[in-house]
Amino acid sequence: MRIGVLTGGGDAPGLNAAIRAVVLRANALGHEVLGITDGYAGLLGEQQPRLLTPREVGHILGDGGTMLGTSRTDPRKDETSRRAVLASIRRSGFDALVTIGGNDTLSVAQWLHEQGIRVVGVPKTVDNDLSETEFCIGFDTAITVVADALDRLRTTASAHHRVVVVEAMGRDTGWVAAFGGLAGGADLILVPEIPVTSEDIVRTMKRRRASGDPDILVVVSEAVQIEGLEALTALDHDAFGHVRLDQRAIGTVLARLIEQRTGIEARQVVLGHLQRGGSPTAIDRLRATRFGNAAADLVEAGRSGVLPVQRSGHIETATMADAVREVRRLSDEYLELVRRFAGVLA
Ligand code: F6P
Repeated sequence: MRIGVLTGGGDAPGLNAAIRAVVLRANALGHEVLGITDGYAGLLGEQQPRLLTPREVGHILGDGGTMLGTSRTDPRKDETSRRAVLASIRRSGFDALVTIGGNDTLSVAQWLHEQGIRVVGVPKTVDNDLSETEFCIGFDTAITVVADALDRLRTTASAHHRVVVVEAMGRDTGWVAAFGGLAGGADLILVPEIPVTSEDIVRTMKRRRASGDPDILVVVSEAVQIEGLEALTALDHDAFGHVRLDQRAIGTVLARLIEQRTGIEARQVVLGHLQRGGSPTAIDRLRATRFGNAAADLVEAGRSGVLPVQRSGHIETATMADAVREVRRLSDEYLELVRRFAGVLA
């Protein structure tokens, strides 16, 4: 079989480990794998897919980014692109595609499946908000970055008796803020799943200070809406059509509010793409290897419109349609942990 592989959407640590696993397993089964550059953009442009050999991918397990490049190109955006992408896949003679990505990449993959292309997905997003799977590639590295940052920020916040507001990624959900914040011992974690008002935050800061907390670490998820606090207006959209959440600058706006309303000196740190950069953790390498291996097996078994997922620690198979139907919100257990360990005070 001739299998095309691509990585789409925002990059995430572990993508190379997944590519490696797909190539090694598919080759072991007697198939050849061709790499498509820059996500779906690579199927619309001039560039030809190129053969990926086991030797070439042998040592990329720990590399950050993606050796194939990525993009947020949506080939469904107009009739010309729709025709072009289908023609390109047929011209390349692919028997199957493996698409490694999150909600956007896999919703395109689902559409390709509906058009009669054989496609198997691999779940990747630092946001960890894909349905049907407990974890996605990239998430563990992202939360490790948040926890490490909090460890460092604790010492400087403590030295200066300050509040430090840390802005974490998460387009719709609070997975990164909650897991990273809990692992790093944040004092207050703000996620889209738990509504709060600016009054709740100001009261919490004052009470913490009054009870003797010299330094306070706040983790805020980039998409949080806080009643009574206006974030900046995000004006631009990315190539897929999503609003640019970084432009809301919620961390900066929140730090200003805290300083003005409580008199406590506050600073902000936007972790941004540090959460997606660099080498994947051991957990992400293992997840990527398990998912990539299982994806190659699904291709071998002739499956399409499906992806390997993790449920109760085991690798199982889900349909793409179910995986992208809705974003997966923080589980009740973690919502309760956030409330107990890093919630607003009454
Ligand atoms: O979708 C993953 C994500 O990392 C979001 O958490 C974030 O809002 C967005 O991508 C940032 O995208 P970009 O790299 O295009 O700025």
